[in-house]
Amino acid sequence: MTQTLKPSFRNPRARHDFLGRTCSITGVGSHVPERILTNAELEKMVSTTDEWITSRTGIKERHIAAADEFTSDLGAKAAVKAMKQAGVTPDQIDLIIVATITPDMPFPSTACLVQRKIGAVRAAAFDVEAACSGFIYALEIGQQFIMSRTYDTVLVIGAEKLSSIVDWEDRNTCVLFGDGAGAAILQNRPSSHGLLTVVMGADGSKSDLLFMPGGGSKCPATQQSVASRLHYLRMEGKETFKNAVQAMCTAANEALRRCEIDITRIKCIIPHQANRRIIDAVADRLGATPEQCFVNLESFGNTSAASVAIALDQATTCGRIQRGDLVLLVVFGAGLTWGAAVIEW
Ligand code: UT7
Repeated sequence: MTQTLKPSFRNPRARHDFLGRTCSITGVGSHVPERILTNAELEKMVSTTDEWITSRTGIKERHIAAADEFTSDLGAKAAVKAMKQAGVTPDQIDLIIVATITPDMPFPSTACLVQRKIGAVRAAAFDVEAACSGFIYALEIGQQFIMSRTYDTVLVIGAEKLSSIVDWEDRNTCVLFGDGAGAAILQNRPSSHGLLTVVMGADGSKSDLLFMPGGGSKCPATQQSVASRLHYLRMEGKETFKNAVQAMCTAANEALRRCEIDITRIKCIIPHQANRRIIDAVADRLGATPEQCFVNLESFGNTSAASVAIALDQATTCGRIQRGDLVLLVVFGAGLTWGAAVIEW
């Protein structure tokens, strides 16, 4: 087991046990839709091959939500599992934060819809939009509320129905994404375990690498906008790839530096599950071994804000993460946005 880090960080930005509070993840859960879409099925939909998708991305299949299954449904189901693991009842939740780029609707927030579905009647609720980095952004926001003593129990969810904004005629993007949700309960636990540091970053000057042109105030829905396929996501794959590797390495190194630990101390790295080649390149540049990285993208594809949340749940459930282990989450997404978090499990 990893040696326990004492709450005596020399670096004040590592806020572990700051002012006698610790922000711990006391429960995690995830949920993906039943329907699985395989690469073989995609071969019949667009001009692609299982060989291309597997060799360029590592993805073999992804889960796709039913027509009557929405982001809030996936999020609520993940939340119920996280609450159960944490031993928390809905009325104990003070705040719900949902990270998503595919809300059920522009407003009200998906967090409010989750609140209704799980019966968390006391909770405040809002959404966070940081694309694939959303779960880490939401973790940091939740942590701030815990550490400031504003709230004791925060439910953080990353949830997406990306199939609703994917252009199923665009082979460049439609093979990459999937639907799903992951959730975590954050609580003050005066122990040595918890979030040690969270790094967040953004570069709006590269917002045109990955975006959805239609549906906002700039381009509301019209017959013309729908006909021009503006309500689907668009991505410059190669440039996004390069920026992802660079930003994830920068974020991870900054998180490790703040905690004054070496990558070898990290038991499990949970990277954003966008592309196997991105994960390998990041691990290589960080000086990590392939065994340190948890990868599940072959079964889920890129689920954006849900990606690391689902992976974290799976890694703990299957025993890859044990109590006391140091875990590194590292993400990248549209915006551009990026982030990293070190957790003592
Ligand atoms: O989660 C948010 C962040 N997102 C990411 O991090 C994704 C980052 N980007 C990537 O993962 C990769 O860039 C992709 C997987 C999207 C593409 O891989 P690539 O090695 O960068 O390929 P490419 O874009 O250079 O495309 C190479 C070729 C092109 O054909 P030509 O122009 O060389 O003739 C594409 O048209 O592959 C073609 N292509 C496909 N062929 C078969 C693109 N998509 C497909 C496809 N099946 N699905």
